[in-house]
Amino acid sequence: MSLLRSIDPSVDHALQAIIAGTSLDPTCTTDLAVGPWDFDSRPGYGPGSSMGDVIPVGAPRQGELPAAYREAGEDELDARIHAAKQTLGDRVVVLGHFYQREEVVRHADYVGDSFQLANAALEHPDAEAIVFCGVHFMAETADLLSGPDQAVVLPNLAAGCSMADMADIDQVEDCWEQLAEVLGPLDEPDADGLVPVIPVTYMNSSAAIKGFVGRHGGIVCTSSNAATVLEWAFARGRRVLFFPDQHLGRNTAKAMGVPLERMPMWNPRRPLGGSRADELRDGRVILWHGFCSVHRRFTVDQIEQARAEHPGVRVIVHPECPVEVVDAADEAGSTDYIRKAIAAATEPTTFAIGTEINLVRRLAAQHPQHEIFCLDPVVCPCSTMYRIHPGYLAWVLEELVAGRVQNRIRVADDVAQPARVALQRMLAARPR
Ligand code: 13P
Ligand code: SF4
Repeated sequence: MSLLRSIDPSVDHALQAIIAGTSLDPTCTTDLAVGPWDFDSRPGYGPGSSMGDVIPVGAPRQGELPAAYREAGEDELDARIHAAKQTLGDRVVVLGHFYQREEVVRHADYVGDSFQLANAALEHPDAEAIVFCGVHFMAETADLLSGPDQAVVLPNLAAGCSMADMADIDQVEDCWEQLAEVLGPLDEPDADGLVPVIPVTYMNSSAAIKGFVGRHGGIVCTSSNAATVLEWAFARGRRVLFFPDQHLGRNTAKAMGVPLERMPMWNPRRPLGGSRADELRDGRVILWHGFCSVHRRFTVDQIEQARAEHPGVRVIVHPECPVEVVDAADEAGSTDYIRKAIAAATEPTTFAIGTEINLVRRLAAQHPQHEIFCLDPVVCPCSTMYRIHPGYLAWVLEELVAGRVQNRIRVADDVAQPARVALQRMLAARPR
């Protein structure tokens, strides 16, 4: 018999225990314990870390999930998903992001970060359907990279991303026009062959933004290749306009030696983004005023408390965290970096992790030789990742068995063409 502890990775089980009173762990809202379908008819991101964010008018809504799926228990849904996948065989591939709930991830053929899952979509040209258990921008990216006859399915259309929603294409077009007034024609290179500004978008953005970037000589990045991509951009432009996540932009540029005072902010609700013209002219990286509500929950106080309570603790946070949190941590890296750092630790170690709770709990269960906990003691998963419940997964898979494609995500051709250009530039950019 193994002497190692057995750890339940399920955030759902943790929430049910909180509601039942058998766990004293705090949660940001007890609404998390009810089915996400309760929120499909209400405006807003739903319970979880984005519940205080303003959802854009016109954000995709999910229609009513049939009662059979809402009323089924965990074991029944498990069996139905398994059976539907068996019937569909290689006709379908199920992708699961690291932040998905355990009850969904266990059915995924591939589990990974947004970049790895985009590649997984690319590598399955023969699958008729790609069921993407993640959020909207990831499904759009899979559609951009998959074949025209492949259907990319998002099990719950309300699974958007509050950060991606913070950069709207009209606001970005408007920003570009205002920057041209300050910096001069944006497509004209200077004597050194550098244009005034190169737009760089985080993968966590809509296809429309990726298309904008592709049309204006820019590029996409992920949290695992942001430094390589910024080098690519600095080789072509005097400045970078980075969106939507100010924190990833700031943390990456700071680590590359760009001083904070040369990173003016662009708030789309203010004239000139709330910065002065001279600040924009002197800027090296113009940071869009966006953030992730999951990673904004992490604080320096939490790190200090972890260090006080667990001497020798290794603190690793995601670069979507605020700069002071990244500075106070021992390391910062993408979800895949965090996963690999834990897998590579040969001695039993205590890890305090600053990223989404589903991934942290799964890592704790996979590595019982280590003590692994989330820096934020409050159980508060990503609201939109949380929208993908096994009920929706069972529904879209059984519909595929019946020959019906539900919740297909399609990027319009005029957007897809330049968006692919921006993605291809990222795939071709290599570290120096
Ligand atoms: P990665 O999957 O690129 O690590 O991004 C983290 C994230 O916030 C996804 O929504
Ligand atoms: Fe968006 Fe943050 Fe959720 Fe990722 S974790 S989907 S960036 S809100």
